[in-house]
Amino acid sequence: MQLQDIEPAIRESSRPAAALQAFCETHFDAAPLVVQAAGRINLIGEHTDYNNGFVLPAAIDKAIYLGIIKRNDRQLRFHALDLDDHYTGSLDSLASSPQHWPDYLLGVVQQLQQKGYPIQGFECAFGGNIPQGAGLSSSAALECAVLFALNQLFELNLSKIEMARLAQAAENNFVGVRCGIMDQFASIFGKRQHLIKLDCGSLEHEYIPFRFDDVKLVLLDTQVKHSLASSEYNTRRAECEQGVQLVSRHHPDVSSLRQVTLDMLDAYVKPVNAVTYNRCRYVVEEIQRLQDACTDLINDDLSAFGQRMFTTHEGLDKLYNVSCAELNWLAAMASREAGVLGARMMGGGFGGCTINIVKADAVPGFIAKAGQGYQQQFNVPLKAYVTSIEDGCKVMA
Ligand code: GLA
Repeated sequence: MQLQDIEPAIRESSRPAAALQAFCETHFDAAPLVVQAAGRINLIGEHTDYNNGFVLPAAIDKAIYLGIIKRNDRQLRFHALDLDDHYTGSLDSLASSPQHWPDYLLGVVQQLQQKGYPIQGFECAFGGNIPQGAGLSSSAALECAVLFALNQLFELNLSKIEMARLAQAAENNFVGVRCGIMDQFASIFGKRQHLIKLDCGSLEHEYIPFRFDDVKLVLLDTQVKHSLASSEYNTRRAECEQGVQLVSRHHPDVSSLRQVTLDMLDAYVKPVNAVTYNRCRYVVEEIQRLQDACTDLINDDLSAFGQRMFTTHEGLDKLYNVSCAELNWLAAMASREAGVLGARMMGGGFGGCTINIVKADAVPGFIAKAGQGYQQQFNVPLKAYVTSIEDGCKVMA
């Protein structure tokens, strides 16, 4: 299967829920079940999920809205409203689509079928306002939206953890990106004004309050569409696995970078492969950095937390090599602003957004200055989103 960008081609709609409702009223012959599934941010802990490390994501105020009805046959009909594109298929012949976007839904259907869940044909329509290719996980939100809806519609009784695992498996096995579980987990488990500290090894998680009246979360969108993202992403995974293999020859109990120390990397990886060493070193340091950052949060020390975000950016750029000129420019610019507590590239890399913790009164000035400088430097208008932390998947009232 050809690898595509991690984010699917879902365009932004200004009033997605209203547009969905209007479409369903005209085209569906029954009232739909309507669900919403959020995009996500991640404060710290990047590229640690598939290494059994920790992540610190949250669901945001940008979401996919999906309306669904049952059919009496085995047909599948999907409508991507923002693309004005449509798909018709059958439960009996699931194959990856040249349109690409249906794969996120078909992958979920395939997982349910493989696990023996009783579903019949259905028709669904969806749209949303998660910016495309911005690293805010519009693809995971779509997978979670359809899975959450099917769970309700066919009374499958899936737990939230089962849904997160299943949506991840859809992306791994059908779409072909070997992503970790962070995005799907955040879209399903998101809680208003809370970060999710997720142990990706055990899937144990705790909610950490993130309520600061005097700061805002600002996303600066490079608008660089990460064309390298999915192939390089899978390469990074393979490099991490190679590091684990080198260590496990000497420590047979080691099966992920979560169990690896810097001393082990120095002894067994550094002499063999400098690139693999750099990748693994970043991950091992980042897993620890997240733990320390959570202590900062508990101590209400957002400045210390923010400093760690800058260090993460440095590691993602220099050691993990997943940044790009645009992201580096934005992170460096932010580091010189007194009103910015922390900033870094976010998500898989090679484009998308930086995430910035900014003092509330400095937000307008910061966005204006970043926009002007970015335009001058790259001749591209910068998009900025001031985002808030909201609940994850839910049935719409
Ligand atoms: C993408 C993947 C996630 C995670 C991040 C990097 O968003 O889908 O599983 O690995 O990249 O932290």
